[in-house]
Amino acid sequence: KQTDNQLIIDAGQKQFGATMCRSCGMLYSTDSPEDNFQHTQFHQRFLDTIKFVGWKKERVVAEFWDGKIILVLPEDPKYATKKAEDVRRIADSELGFQQITLSSPSSAKTYLFINSDRMVVGCLVAENIRQAFRVLEQPEKPKDINKEDFMERHRAWCCSTVPEKAICGISRIWVFSLMRRKSIATRLLDTVRNTFMYGSHLTKEEIAFSDPTPEGKLFATKYCET
Ligand code: ACO
Ligand code: ZN
Repeated sequence: KQTDNQLIIDAGQKQFGATMCRSCGMLYSTDSPEDNFQHTQFHQRFLDTIKFVGWKKERVVAEFWDGKIILVLPEDPKYATKKAEDVRRIADSELGFQQITLSSPSSAKTYLFINSDRMVVGCLVAENIRQAFRVLEQPEKPKDINKEDFMERHRAWCCSTVPEKAICGISRIWVFSLMRRKSIATRLLDTVRNTFMYGSHLTKEEIAFSDPTPEGKLFATKYCET
C-alpha cells in the first residue's frame, strides 16, 4: 500500500513541468539540464534512424493513403538490413529488451511501415515457429490496483502450458509513440498474415505473440477477437 502511493506521488512530480517533444515524442522536463541533455542526445539520433530516404529496390507489400509497408529479408542488401536492425534496436530499447539477437535470425522477416513523411513509424519482426502457448483469460482485476500494475504482475503466468500449433511468431511489434492508435499495428499484422507464407493467408490462430507487454496484450486481445 505504502509503496503504491509513493509511486503515484513520484510519477506526479515527474510529470510536473514535463514537455513532450512534438518531433521525437520524448517526455522530458525543460527545467532540468540533465533532461535537456538527454533529449538533445536522443532527438537527432532517433529522427535519423527513422528517416527513410527510399531504396532502389523496395519490396512493397502493402500501400495505403497514408503510407506503405515494405518487407526486409535477411538476405537483402546491407542498406536494407541495417535500417531494419536500427529501427528494431529503437523498439527493443523502448520495450526494455536487453539482447538484440533474434531466436532465428535467418528466418526473421522485418515489416516496416513508412508514412507519407518518409519516416519508419512502425516495425514488426515475424519469425517461423512450430508451436506456441496460448495466452489464458485474465482473472478479474481487484479494485485496489491499477491496470498496469496488475498486468505487469500477471505477465509471467498468463500462458497455457499446452503447446498449440502456430506458424508465425511475432517477436516484436512497435509503433512510434506519436503515431499510435491509427491502426498501424493492425495493418502491419494484416499484411504479415497475407505475405508471411507465400500463397496462403494465415488465420489469427496461426500467429502468436511472444512475451507481450501490457500494451501489446491490449492490442493483441483486441486484434484477435475482431
Ligand atoms: N490501450 C488500449 N487499447 C489499445 C492500446 C492501448 N495502449 N493500443 C492498441 N489498443 C487496441 C485498441 O482497441 C485499438 O483500436 P482503437 O484505437 O480503435 O481503440 C486496437 O488495439 C488497434 O490498435 P492500433 O492502432 O492498430 O495499434 P497501434 O498502431 O497504436 O500499436 C502497439 C499498438 C504496437 C502495442 C503500440 O502501442 C506500441 O508500439 N507500444 C509500445 C511497444 C509495445 O509494447 N509493443 C508490443 C510488445 S509485445 C511484442 O512485441 C510481441
Ligand atoms: Zn525531440
